[in-house]
Amino acid sequence: MAPFFISLPRQSNDRIPISQGHISMQTPVTRLYPAPCNQYSLNGLYLQHRLHRKGQPDAPYVYSNFITSLDGRISLGGSDHVTHTVPAATANPRDWRLYQELAAQAELLITSGRYFRQSLIGEAQDQLPVGKQAEFEDIREWRLTQGLREQPDIAILSSSLDIPVAALEPYRHRRILVITGERSEQTRVTVLQRAGIEVLHAGAGTRVEGGQAISQLAKSGYRSIYAIAGPAVFYTLLEANVVNRLYLTITQQMLGGDIFDTVTRGPLLTPARRLSLASLYHDPYAPEEAGQLLAVFEPQT
Ligand SMILES: NC(=O)c1ccc[n+]([C@@H]2O[C@H](COP(=O)([O-])OP(=O)(O)OC[C@H]3O[C@@H](n4cnc5c(N)ncnc54)[C@H](OP(=O)(O)O)[C@@H]3O)[C@@H](O)[C@H]2O)c1
Repeated sequence: MAPFFISLPRQSNDRIPISQGHISMQTPVTRLYPAPCNQYSLNGLYLQHRLHRKGQPDAPYVYSNFITSLDGRISLGGSDHVTHTVPAATANPRDWRLYQELAAQAELLITSGRYFRQSLIGEAQDQLPVGKQAEFEDIREWRLTQGLREQPDIAILSSSLDIPVAALEPYRHRRILVITGERSEQTRVTVLQRAGIEVLHAGAGTRVEGGQAISQLAKSGYRSIYAIAGPAVFYTLLEANVVNRLYLTITQQMLGGDIFDTVTRGPLLTPARRLSLASLYHDPYAPEEAGQLLAVFEPQT
């Protein structure tokens, strides 16, 4: 099939061949920062970051990722769902590819009790990464060539310990840890342990303290930790100053809505956590007729 050419947006003078009729994962994004502007294939963009090599034995590399609209919505409540879900308008395959590339570099995923409750009622966005779909086969192979296990292990933060064991079944081939506070309900701890789930305590109350959780995970040997939960888990990590990098996809859309989540939720962070821009790419191809910015932030030291 002969390639045809499309004009890229104004910042590019190049004309890039695109396979007939659709935008592929190789279709490039434009780096806006740091200068100079340049074009890079979306496919592989984040795999190059080698996050699994950045951690130290006592200091795992902790990173998180969100997709948000311009007005800051990461999820919306609605009458057709019991739980809040990622807006259909923002979710797109190009961002999803990058989310999977970040998971490829993780030894451990941090998720929440909420995810498994949402899974059980069929409202979770997808199975935990790395995705088993054919389109992510290269990512799964890449993990193995890097000496990583086939799939990252799973840590679940929970105070309530309301974690439906049935929802854990698809992940039994991975190590599953539940992290909770010292004062969480012992009967629920026992139920989980009897189901073969390891339970760690980090924090004096029922809530997990982020610093203690990461220290315990470091002692368990984890060097790269990808937090894929929502605003409360991200707050827990921010509060403890253990976040090394935030990957933020900002879709060029305004969503409005009255019931929504933003990237973080909790008491005021004092002082405010300041982040520096490490890189910024423009992807004009998704979401369709909008585009998105792919930003990477690091804490200021
Ligand atoms: N757009 C995006 O990129 C993106 C990314 C992630 C999530 N989301 C969406 O965000 C929405 C809201 O997420 P969410 O509020 O459910 O996630 P969340 O706020 O991170 O997690 C909520 C649950 O995590 C547990 N948790 C959090 N911090 C804890 C701590 N310090 N100690 C103990 N447990 C802790 C609690 O579980 P227990 O209730 O079991 O105690 C809590 O209910 C979801 O609908 C999700 O789809 C969007």
